[in-house]
Amino acid sequence: MLKYVDVEGDALKKVTRPKREGFSSSIGVIAAVLGSAVGLGNIWKFPYVTGANGGAAFILVYLLCLALVGLPVMLSEHLIGRHTKANAVGAFKALQPRRPWFLVGGAGVLSAYLIMVYYTTVAGWVYAYVFKAAGGALLSVKPEDTSLVFNALVSGVGEPLFWQVFVLLVTGTIIMAGVTKGIERVTKVLMPLLFILLLIIDIRSLMLPGAGEGLSFLFKPDFSKITVGVILAALGLAFFKLSVGMGAMITYGSYVDKNENLPKMAIKVALADTLVSLMAGIAIFPAVFAFGFKPDAGAKLLFIIIPAVFNSMPFGRVFMVLFFLLTAVAATGAMLSLLEVIIAYLTEQYQWTRRKATLLTILAIGSLGSTATLSNSIFAKATMFGKTFFDFYDFTTTNILLPVGGIFIALFVGWQWGYANVKREMSNEGRLKNDVLVRVFMFFVKFIVPVAITLVLLAGLGLDKRILSFFS
Ligand code: PHE
Repeated sequence: MLKYVDVEGDALKKVTRPKREGFSSSIGVIAAVLGSAVGLGNIWKFPYVTGANGGAAFILVYLLCLALVGLPVMLSEHLIGRHTKANAVGAFKALQPRRPWFLVGGAGVLSAYLIMVYYTTVAGWVYAYVFKAAGGALLSVKPEDTSLVFNALVSGVGEPLFWQVFVLLVTGTIIMAGVTKGIERVTKVLMPLLFILLLIIDIRSLMLPGAGEGLSFLFKPDFSKITVGVILAALGLAFFKLSVGMGAMITYGSYVDKNENLPKMAIKVALADTLVSLMAGIAIFPAVFAFGFKPDAGAKLLFIIIPAVFNSMPFGRVFMVLFFLLTAVAATGAMLSLLEVIIAYLTEQYQWTRRKATLLTILAIGSLGSTATLSNSIFAKATMFGKTFFDFYDFTTTNILLPVGGIFIALFVGWQWGYANVKREMSNEGRLKNDVLVRVFMFFVKFIVPVAITLVLLAGLGLDKRILSFFS
């Protein structure tokens, strides 16, 4: 029997639950949380969004968003998750049974679903590339040729759908195996491997003639490139990258041991995640310039540049297979956390079995997911608010749902749950002496985070002008 009591002495709720699984070691926790953070976001999205938004100046804004907004939201989620040991909806219900805060968790579950809908499309392309690379379909050093291979894949119907279903079956199988045996075991081994491989490609990429131009694109900021649209993209990417704003970190936090130092863990994860993103940038941009390509090629950047880089080095084919394999693994680690948000919710709130929850969830993802996958073929002309289905799911989740989720999570922790509770959870019941940190954190979640996100959202979506013109 577990009993939740808040500091004012108000007994909130008694809940009985079957024994919950959890991550079994400190390394396992970091690996799993990092496994959620590191994914297509670093290797596919970060480079192409950076390329499309002008390079270094965007990266600077991104880092600010990450540190000032993303990190406090991540820590908020870990605190709530570990304290309540519940899924995204259950956590809010446990802390505030009489107020509608659980809707924030509900929106998170919806976000997890909508992200999965298009994430599985891209993950499918990556899985397909593992086989294409191995089979010799990607042996050109010219981005124009590798571009053709990519276009043929994404504008097909049967092939990309097949890979999306395949991705769903793989992730579904791991999820059914459970938290410790599935998620933790897989991520612990494969994360270090990805890192080493990225390092090798970085070295190769830096040796290409003209690499310097790529580096200055990445590291020499041109501030004239910063617009509100760029800031919104950076904020969205920061949330997406850290897997925050939608309850994945509440869910994973709920599997974390009481002795873990949560602020330390969040900082470590954010640093490691940023390192991986920058390494992916270093792998890609020198090559982009060396091959005379434009950095703003969009979603296909990774898929055309990386094969060209590998093909210009000895044993390129072997490395290329490994690279896409590890990208597939990273994507899978991230998808496990997205799925787990939904599965934890369904199994805990409705007592569904893990099996039933998983099967129905992947069925639901696949159904809507096909509209994302077919955005370059059958549905190429279909639009929602002027965007293809794929872009619509991507934009609404990354740039709207996650930041809005972040506002409410921060407000909840700062104003509703409050200082005394935060202090207890963040200091591991007083065992850690980190009061200054707690106070700084409280200031961020109460003021900085909600205000910053609101301003960026209003400006980025152009609502500020509409609101002003309404009053004038
Ligand atoms: N952080 C993951 C990535 O970068 C994506 C993700 C977003 C995972 C939200 C979980 C929750 O690929």
